[in-house]
Amino acid sequence: MRNSWQIFLDIFSCPALCKCYPTSMEVVCNEVPLTEYPSAGLPENTTMLTIQLTNITSISEHHLKSTPLLKELHLYGNQLQSLSSHLLRGVPQLHTLDLTGNELSDLPVDVFSDAPLRNLVLKNNQIKRADPKWLPHNSSLTWLDLSENRLTEIPVGLFQRLPHLQNIDLSNNRLEKIPPNSLDHLTKLERLNLQNNKLDTLDASVFQFTHNLTSLFLSQNKLAKLPQNLFQGLNRLTHLSLDDNQLSRISKGFLDLLSSLEEGGLDLSGNPLLCDREVEYLWQWLQRNNKKVLFADNITCALPESLAGRSVISLTENDLNIGSQPS
Ligand SMILES: *[C@@H]1O[C@H](CO)[C@@H](O)[C@H](O)[C@H]1NC(C)=O
Ligand SMILES: *[C@@H]1O[C@H](CO)[C@@H](O)[C@H](O)[C@H]1NC(C)=O
Ligand SMILES: *[C@@H]1O[C@H](CO)[C@@H](O)[C@H](O)[C@H]1NC(C)=O
Ligand SMILES: *[C@@H]1O[C@H](CO)[C@@H](O)[C@H](O)[C@H]1NC(C)=O
Ligand SMILES: *[C@@H]1O[C@H](CO)[C@@H](O)[C@H](O)[C@H]1NC(C)=O
Repeated sequence: MRNSWQIFLDIFSCPALCKCYPTSMEVVCNEVPLTEYPSAGLPENTTMLTIQLTNITSISEHHLKSTPLLKELHLYGNQLQSLSSHLLRGVPQLHTLDLTGNELSDLPVDVFSDAPLRNLVLKNNQIKRADPKWLPHNSSLTWLDLSENRLTEIPVGLFQRLPHLQNIDLSNNRLEKIPPNSLDHLTKLERLNLQNNKLDTLDASVFQFTHNLTSLFLSQNKLAKLPQNLFQGLNRLTHLSLDDNQLSRISKGFLDLLSSLEEGGLDLSGNPLLCDREVEYLWQWLQRNNKKVLFADNITCALPESLAGRSVISLTENDLNIGSQPS
Protein backbone atom coordinates (compact mmCIF):
# COMPACT_ATOMS: atom_id res chain seq x y z
CA MET A 1 0.00 0.00 0.00
CA ARG A 2 1.22 3.48 -0.76
CA ASN A 3 0.98 5.86 2.12
CA SER A 4 -0.50 9.29 1.72
CA TRP A 5 2.94 10.90 1.49
CA GLN A 6 3.82 8.72 -1.50
CA ILE A 7 0.55 9.60 -3.19
CA PHE A 8 1.25 13.26 -2.51
CA LEU A 9 4.67 12.83 -4.14
CA ASP A 10 3.16 11.06 -7.14
CA ILE A 11 0.68 13.83 -7.73
CA PHE A 12 2.89 16.78 -7.02
CA SER A 13 6.34 15.59 -8.09
CA CYS A 14 7.86 17.53 -10.94
CA PRO A 15 11.35 17.34 -12.48
CA ALA A 16 13.72 20.16 -11.60
CA LEU A 17 13.74 22.84 -14.35
CA CYS A 18 10.28 21.84 -15.59
CA LYS A 19 6.77 23.12 -14.95
CA CYS A 20 3.97 20.72 -14.13
CA TYR A 21 0.30 21.47 -14.53
CA PRO A 22 -1.49 18.73 -12.55
CA THR A 23 -5.02 19.62 -13.61
CA SER A 24 -4.23 19.26 -17.32
CA MET A 25 -1.63 16.51 -16.63
CA GLU A 26 0.83 18.49 -18.72
CA VAL A 27 4.57 19.01 -18.20
CA VAL A 28 6.70 21.64 -19.93
CA CYS A 29 10.51 21.91 -19.85
CA ASN A 30 11.24 24.99 -21.94
CA GLU A 31 14.71 26.35 -22.78
CA VAL A 32 16.45 24.99 -19.70
CA PRO A 33 19.92 23.42 -19.38
CA LEU A 34 18.73 19.81 -19.40
CA THR A 35 21.17 17.36 -20.96
CA GLU A 36 19.20 14.21 -20.24
CA TYR A 37 15.57 13.24 -20.53
CA PRO A 38 14.03 14.03 -17.12
CA SER A 39 12.43 10.63 -16.43
CA ALA A 40 12.82 10.84 -12.69
CA GLY A 41 10.20 13.06 -11.19
CA LEU A 42 7.79 13.11 -14.14
CA PRO A 43 4.27 12.63 -12.78
CA GLU A 44 3.10 9.16 -13.77
CA ASN A 45 -0.15 10.79 -14.85
CA THR A 46 1.42 12.97 -17.53
CA THR A 47 -0.51 12.91 -20.80
CA MET A 48 1.25 15.77 -22.57
CA LEU A 49 4.97 16.46 -22.34
CA THR A 50 6.92 19.26 -24.00
CA ILE A 51 10.70 19.40 -23.82
CA GLN A 52 11.94 22.14 -26.11
CA LEU A 53 15.13 24.09 -26.74
CA THR A 54 17.16 22.02 -24.29
CA ASN A 55 20.38 20.07 -24.78
CA ILE A 56 19.10 16.50 -24.52
CA THR A 57 20.75 14.27 -27.16
CA SER A 58 18.95 10.94 -26.94
CA ILE A 59 15.75 9.23 -25.86
CA SER A 60 15.05 5.56 -25.26
CA GLU A 61 12.18 3.26 -24.51
CA HIS A 62 13.20 3.24 -20.82
CA HIS A 63 12.80 6.99 -20.55
CA LEU A 64 9.24 6.97 -21.85
CA LYS A 65 8.12 4.08 -19.65
CA SER A 66 7.81 6.44 -16.70
CA THR A 67 4.73 8.08 -18.27
CA PRO A 68 2.52 5.24 -19.57
CA LEU A 69 -0.49 7.52 -20.16
CA LEU A 70 1.34 9.86 -22.50
CA LYS A 71 -0.70 10.99 -25.51
CA GLU A 72 1.41 13.83 -26.90
CA LEU A 73 5.17 14.27 -26.87
CA HIS A 74 6.65 17.50 -28.22
CA LEU A 75 10.44 17.61 -28.57
CA TYR A 76 11.06 20.72 -30.66
CA GLY A 77 14.54 22.20 -31.00
CA ASN A 78 16.65 19.88 -28.88
CA GLN A 79 19.93 18.19 -29.85
CA LEU A 80 18.49 14.71 -30.38
CA GLN A 81 20.77 12.49 -32.42
CA SER A 82 19.49 9.07 -31.50
CA LEU A 83 16.26 7.33 -30.67
CA SER A 84 16.06 3.72 -29.54
CA SER A 85 14.35 0.87 -31.35
CA HIS A 86 10.84 0.27 -29.94
CA LEU A 87 10.98 3.75 -28.48
CA LEU A 88 7.21 3.83 -28.04
CA ARG A 89 6.69 0.42 -26.41
CA GLY A 90 5.86 1.95 -23.02
CA VAL A 91 3.41 4.59 -24.26
CA PRO A 92 0.50 2.69 -25.85
CA GLN A 93 -1.71 5.80 -26.10
CA LEU A 94 0.74 8.14 -27.78
CA HIS A 95 -0.89 9.74 -30.83
CA THR A 96 1.34 12.74 -31.49
CA LEU A 97 5.13 12.88 -31.68
CA ASP A 98 6.86 16.08 -32.76
CA LEU A 99 10.63 15.91 -33.31
CA THR A 100 11.03 19.17 -35.25
CA GLY A 101 14.46 20.77 -35.29
CA ASN A 102 16.77 18.06 -33.99
CA GLU A 103 19.85 16.30 -35.40
CA LEU A 104 18.23 13.03 -36.43
CA SER A 105 19.63 11.17 -39.44
CA ASP A 106 19.60 7.38 -39.13
CA LEU A 107 16.83 5.88 -37.05
CA PRO A 108 16.52 2.24 -35.97
CA VAL A 109 13.97 -0.29 -37.17
CA ASP A 110 10.65 -0.15 -35.27
CA VAL A 111 11.44 3.23 -33.77
CA PHE A 112 7.83 4.39 -34.21
CA SER A 113 6.09 1.01 -33.92
CA ASP A 114 4.13 0.01 -30.80
CA ALA A 115 1.97 3.15 -30.44
CA PRO A 116 -1.14 4.20 -32.40
CA LEU A 117 0.58 7.31 -33.79
CA ARG A 118 -1.58 9.62 -35.88
CA ASN A 119 0.74 12.61 -36.16
CA LEU A 120 4.49 12.31 -36.75
CA VAL A 121 6.58 15.40 -37.32
CA LEU A 122 10.24 14.97 -38.33
CA LYS A 123 10.62 18.43 -39.84
CA ASN A 124 14.06 20.07 -39.97
CA ASN A 125 16.37 17.14 -39.25
CA GLN A 126 19.17 15.54 -41.30
CA ILE A 127 17.22 12.60 -42.72
CA LYS A 128 18.49 11.29 -46.07
CA ARG A 129 16.37 8.17 -46.29
CA ALA A 130 13.03 7.32 -44.68
CA ASP A 131 13.03 3.60 -43.87
CA PRO A 132 9.68 1.76 -44.18
CA LYS A 133 10.64 -0.32 -41.15
CA TRP A 134 10.41 2.68 -38.85
CA LEU A 135 6.66 2.07 -38.80
CA PRO A 136 4.41 -0.99 -38.66
CA HIS A 137 2.35 -2.22 -41.60
CA ASN A 138 -1.04 -0.51 -41.77
CA SER A 139 0.14 2.28 -39.50
CA SER A 140 -2.59 4.61 -38.29
CA LEU A 141 -0.63 7.76 -39.23
CA THR A 142 -2.74 10.46 -40.81
CA TRP A 143 -0.15 13.26 -40.81
CA LEU A 144 3.53 12.86 -41.71
CA ASP A 145 5.88 15.83 -41.91
CA LEU A 146 9.33 15.13 -43.38
CA SER A 147 9.95 18.68 -44.59
CA GLU A 148 13.37 20.37 -44.35
CA ASN A 149 15.41 17.18 -44.52
CA ARG A 150 17.79 15.78 -47.12
CA LEU A 151 15.58 13.29 -48.88
CA THR A 152 16.55 12.59 -52.48
CA GLU A 153 13.91 9.91 -53.05
CA ILE A 154 10.21 9.61 -52.30
CA PRO A 155 9.86 7.05 -49.50
CA VAL A 156 7.68 4.68 -51.55
CA GLY A 157 8.08 1.70 -49.22
CA LEU A 158 7.11 3.83 -46.27
CA PHE A 159 3.99 5.10 -48.03
CA GLN A 160 2.89 1.51 -48.60
CA ARG A 161 2.56 1.13 -44.86
CA LEU A 162 0.49 4.28 -44.43
CA PRO A 163 -2.95 3.73 -45.99
CA HIS A 164 -4.56 6.27 -43.65
CA LEU A 165 -2.37 9.24 -44.53
CA GLN A 166 -4.27 12.46 -45.17
CA ASN A 167 -1.48 15.01 -45.02
CA ILE A 168 2.15 14.69 -46.16
CA ASP A 169 4.74 17.42 -46.13
CA LEU A 170 7.89 16.68 -48.16
CA SER A 171 8.74 20.31 -48.89
CA ASN A 172 12.30 21.63 -48.75
CA ASN A 173 14.06 18.39 -49.59
CA ARG A 174 16.08 17.29 -52.63
CA LEU A 175 13.57 15.11 -54.41
CA GLU A 176 14.27 14.71 -58.11
CA LYS A 177 11.37 12.56 -59.19
CA ILE A 178 8.18 10.89 -58.07
CA PRO A 179 8.23 7.32 -59.33
CA PRO A 180 4.98 6.30 -61.10
CA ASN A 181 2.63 4.48 -58.71
CA SER A 182 4.44 5.74 -55.63
CA LEU A 183 1.32 7.52 -54.35
CA ASP A 184 -1.13 4.81 -55.37
CA HIS A 185 -1.70 3.53 -51.83
CA LEU A 186 -2.55 6.97 -50.51
CA THR A 187 -6.21 7.02 -51.41
CA LYS A 188 -7.12 9.20 -48.42
CA LEU A 189 -4.53 11.84 -49.14
CA GLU A 190 -5.88 15.39 -48.90
CA ARG A 191 -2.76 17.58 -48.69
CA LEU A 192 0.53 16.96 -50.47
CA ASN A 193 3.35 19.45 -50.18
CA LEU A 194 6.30 19.03 -52.55
CA GLN A 195 7.38 22.65 -52.59
CA ASN A 196 11.06 23.52 -53.04
CA ASN A 197 12.46 20.26 -54.35
CA LYS A 198 14.20 19.45 -57.64
CA LEU A 199 11.33 17.87 -59.54
CA ASP A 200 11.64 18.42 -63.28
CA THR A 201 8.85 16.19 -64.50
CA LEU A 202 5.77 14.35 -63.27
CA ASP A 203 4.42 11.07 -64.56
CA ALA A 204 0.94 11.33 -66.13
CA SER A 205 -0.47 8.68 -63.77
CA VAL A 206 1.08 9.87 -60.53
CA PHE A 207 -2.18 11.21 -59.07
CA GLN A 208 -4.44 8.52 -60.53
CA PHE A 209 -5.63 7.15 -57.17
CA THR A 210 -5.40 10.23 -54.97
CA HIS A 211 -8.92 11.43 -55.72
CA ASN A 212 -9.31 13.07 -52.34
CA LEU A 213 -6.52 15.60 -52.82
CA THR A 214 -7.67 19.11 -51.95
CA SER A 215 -4.29 20.88 -51.76
CA LEU A 216 -1.25 20.24 -53.92
CA PHE A 217 1.88 22.35 -53.58
CA LEU A 218 4.47 22.04 -56.37
CA SER A 219 6.02 25.50 -56.30
CA GLN A 220 9.78 26.12 -56.47
CA ASN A 221 10.67 23.05 -58.49
CA LYS A 222 12.06 22.74 -62.01
CA LEU A 223 8.90 21.60 -63.75
CA ALA A 224 9.13 22.56 -67.42
CA LYS A 225 6.25 20.58 -68.89
CA LEU A 226 3.24 18.83 -67.37
CA PRO A 227 1.31 15.88 -68.84
CA GLN A 228 -2.00 17.03 -70.32
CA ASN A 229 -4.22 14.88 -68.06
CA LEU A 230 -2.16 15.16 -64.90
CA PHE A 231 -5.02 16.49 -62.80
CA GLN A 232 -7.75 14.29 -64.23
CA GLY A 233 -9.88 12.85 -61.44
CA LEU A 234 -8.76 15.41 -58.86
CA ASN A 235 -12.28 16.69 -58.53
CA ARG A 236 -11.77 18.04 -55.03
CA LEU A 237 -8.64 20.05 -55.68
CA THR A 238 -9.18 23.53 -54.23
CA HIS A 239 -5.55 24.73 -54.01
CA LEU A 240 -2.76 24.20 -56.53
CA SER A 241 0.56 25.98 -56.51
CA LEU A 242 2.82 25.77 -59.55
CA ASP A 243 4.62 29.07 -59.08
CA ASP A 244 8.36 29.44 -59.57
CA ASN A 245 8.83 26.58 -61.98
CA GLN A 246 10.05 26.48 -65.59
CA LEU A 247 6.71 26.17 -67.34
CA SER A 248 6.70 27.85 -70.73
CA ARG A 249 3.27 26.69 -71.88
CA ILE A 250 -0.12 25.90 -70.38
CA SER A 251 -1.61 23.68 -73.04
CA LYS A 252 -5.17 23.99 -74.26
CA GLY A 253 -7.69 22.43 -71.85
CA PHE A 254 -5.14 21.82 -69.10
CA LEU A 255 -6.79 24.06 -66.52
CA ASP A 256 -10.33 22.94 -67.39
CA LEU A 257 -9.80 19.81 -65.28
CA LEU A 258 -9.51 22.00 -62.18
CA SER A 259 -13.19 22.50 -61.57
CA SER A 260 -13.05 22.90 -57.78
CA LEU A 261 -10.46 25.63 -57.38
CA GLU A 262 -11.29 28.11 -54.64
CA GLU A 263 -10.85 31.84 -54.78
CA GLY A 264 -7.11 32.48 -54.97
CA GLY A 265 -6.58 28.73 -55.23
CA LEU A 266 -4.20 28.69 -58.21
CA ASP A 267 -0.70 30.16 -58.22
CA LEU A 268 1.06 30.11 -61.58
CA SER A 269 3.30 33.11 -61.06
CA GLY A 270 7.03 33.10 -61.72
CA ASN A 271 7.07 30.83 -64.78
CA PRO A 272 8.85 31.81 -68.03
CA LEU A 273 5.80 31.74 -70.28
CA LEU A 274 6.05 31.82 -74.03
CA CYS A 275 3.40 34.26 -75.21
CA ASP A 276 2.88 33.15 -78.78
CA ARG A 277 -0.52 32.40 -80.26
CA GLU A 278 -0.96 29.35 -78.03
CA VAL A 279 -1.06 31.51 -74.91
CA GLU A 280 -4.54 32.52 -75.97
CA TYR A 281 -6.02 29.59 -74.03
CA LEU A 282 -4.38 30.73 -70.79
CA TRP A 283 -5.28 34.34 -71.53
CA GLN A 284 -8.95 33.47 -71.95
CA TRP A 285 -8.97 31.17 -68.95
CA LEU A 286 -7.48 33.92 -66.77
CA GLN A 287 -10.14 36.40 -67.89
CA ARG A 288 -12.89 33.94 -67.03
CA ASN A 289 -11.37 32.69 -63.78
CA ASN A 290 -9.77 35.85 -62.53
CA LYS A 291 -10.82 35.31 -58.91
CA LYS A 292 -9.38 31.82 -58.73
CA VAL A 293 -5.89 33.07 -59.46
CA LEU A 294 -3.40 34.37 -56.95
CA PHE A 295 -1.04 37.13 -58.07
CA ALA A 296 -2.40 37.22 -61.64
CA ASP A 297 -0.17 40.21 -62.40
CA ASN A 298 2.85 37.98 -61.80
CA ILE A 299 1.89 35.47 -64.47
CA THR A 300 4.15 37.03 -67.06
CA CYS A 301 5.59 36.43 -70.51
CA ALA A 302 9.30 35.66 -70.84
CA LEU A 303 9.21 35.53 -74.64
CA PRO A 304 8.88 36.89 -77.25
CA GLU A 305 11.20 39.74 -76.48
CA SER A 306 8.53 42.30 -77.35
CA LEU A 307 6.24 41.04 -74.59
CA ALA A 308 8.83 40.07 -71.99
CA GLY A 309 7.70 41.05 -68.51
CA ARG A 310 4.08 41.75 -69.55
CA SER A 311 1.44 39.98 -67.52
CA VAL A 312 -0.59 37.53 -69.57
CA ILE A 313 -3.85 38.96 -68.29
CA SER A 314 -2.93 42.42 -69.55
CA LEU A 315 -2.33 41.29 -73.14
CA THR A 316 -4.61 42.59 -75.83
CA GLU A 317 -5.76 40.75 -78.92
CA ASN A 318 -3.35 42.95 -80.75
CA ASP A 319 -0.46 41.76 -78.56
CA LEU A 320 -1.38 38.15 -79.17
CA ASN A 321 -1.15 38.65 -82.90
CA ILE A 322 2.14 40.43 -82.55
CA GLY A 323 3.39 37.61 -80.35
CA SER A 324 2.53 34.98 -82.92
CA GLN A 325 4.60 36.55 -85.65
CA PRO A 326 8.04 35.08 -86.22
CA SER A 327 10.67 37.49 -84.99
C1 LIG B 1 -3.83 11.03 -11.62
O1 LIG B 1 -4.67 12.15 -11.72
C2 LIG B 1 -5.92 12.04 -11.06
C3 LIG B 1 -6.76 13.26 -11.34
O2 LIG B 1 -6.02 14.29 -11.87
C4 LIG B 1 -5.67 11.84 -9.58
O3 LIG B 1 -6.90 11.67 -8.93
C5 LIG B 1 -4.81 10.60 -9.38
O4 LIG B 1 -4.49 10.45 -8.05
C6 LIG B 1 -3.54 10.72 -10.18
N1 LIG B 1 -2.80 9.50 -10.08
C7 LIG B 1 -1.51 9.46 -9.87
C8 LIG B 1 -0.90 8.13 -9.79
O5 LIG B 1 -0.84 10.46 -9.69
C1 LIG C 1 23.11 24.06 -24.43
O1 LIG C 1 24.52 23.94 -24.48
C2 LIG C 1 25.15 25.07 -25.02
C3 LIG C 1 26.64 24.74 -25.16
O2 LIG C 1 27.12 24.16 -23.99
C4 LIG C 1 24.89 26.27 -24.16
O3 LIG C 1 25.51 27.42 -24.71
C5 LIG C 1 23.39 26.49 -24.09
O4 LIG C 1 23.09 27.55 -23.20
C6 LIG C 1 22.67 25.25 -23.61
N1 LIG C 1 21.24 25.44 -23.74
C7 LIG C 1 20.42 25.54 -22.70
C8 LIG C 1 19.00 25.79 -22.99
O5 LIG C 1 20.82 25.41 -21.57
C1 LIG D 1 -5.74 -1.42 -40.89
O1 LIG D 1 -6.11 -0.63 -39.76
C2 LIG D 1 -7.48 -0.27 -39.69
C3 LIG D 1 -7.69 0.62 -38.49
O2 LIG D 1 -6.67 1.54 -38.34
C4 LIG D 1 -8.33 -1.51 -39.62
O3 LIG D 1 -9.69 -1.14 -39.62
C5 LIG D 1 -8.02 -2.41 -40.80
O4 LIG D 1 -8.73 -3.61 -40.66
C6 LIG D 1 -6.54 -2.71 -40.90
N1 LIG D 1 -6.27 -3.43 -42.12
C7 LIG D 1 -5.42 -4.44 -42.20
C8 LIG D 1 -5.24 -5.07 -43.54
O5 LIG D 1 -4.84 -4.84 -41.22
C1 LIG E 1 -12.60 11.15 -49.37
O1 LIG E 1 -13.14 12.19 -48.58
C2 LIG E 1 -14.51 12.01 -48.25
C3 LIG E 1 -15.00 13.27 -47.54
O2 LIG E 1 -14.08 13.70 -46.60
C4 LIG E 1 -14.68 10.77 -47.42
O3 LIG E 1 -16.03 10.56 -47.12
C5 LIG E 1 -14.14 9.59 -48.21
O4 LIG E 1 -14.20 8.42 -47.41
C6 LIG E 1 -12.72 9.83 -48.64
N1 LIG E 1 -12.27 8.78 -49.52
C7 LIG E 1 -11.28 7.98 -49.17
C8 LIG E 1 -10.88 6.96 -50.17
O5 LIG E 1 -10.74 8.08 -48.09
C1 LIG F 1 5.53 39.82 -58.31
O1 LIG F 1 6.59 40.20 -59.17
C2 LIG F 1 7.35 41.30 -58.71
C3 LIG F 1 8.32 41.72 -59.79
O2 LIG F 1 9.04 40.62 -60.28
C4 LIG F 1 8.04 40.89 -57.43
O3 LIG F 1 8.78 41.96 -56.91
C5 LIG F 1 6.98 40.48 -56.41
O4 LIG F 1 7.59 40.00 -55.24
C6 LIG F 1 6.10 39.39 -56.98
N1 LIG F 1 5.02 39.13 -56.05
C7 LIG F 1 4.64 37.90 -55.74
C8 LIG F 1 3.54 37.83 -54.75
O5 LIG F 1 5.14 36.89 -56.23
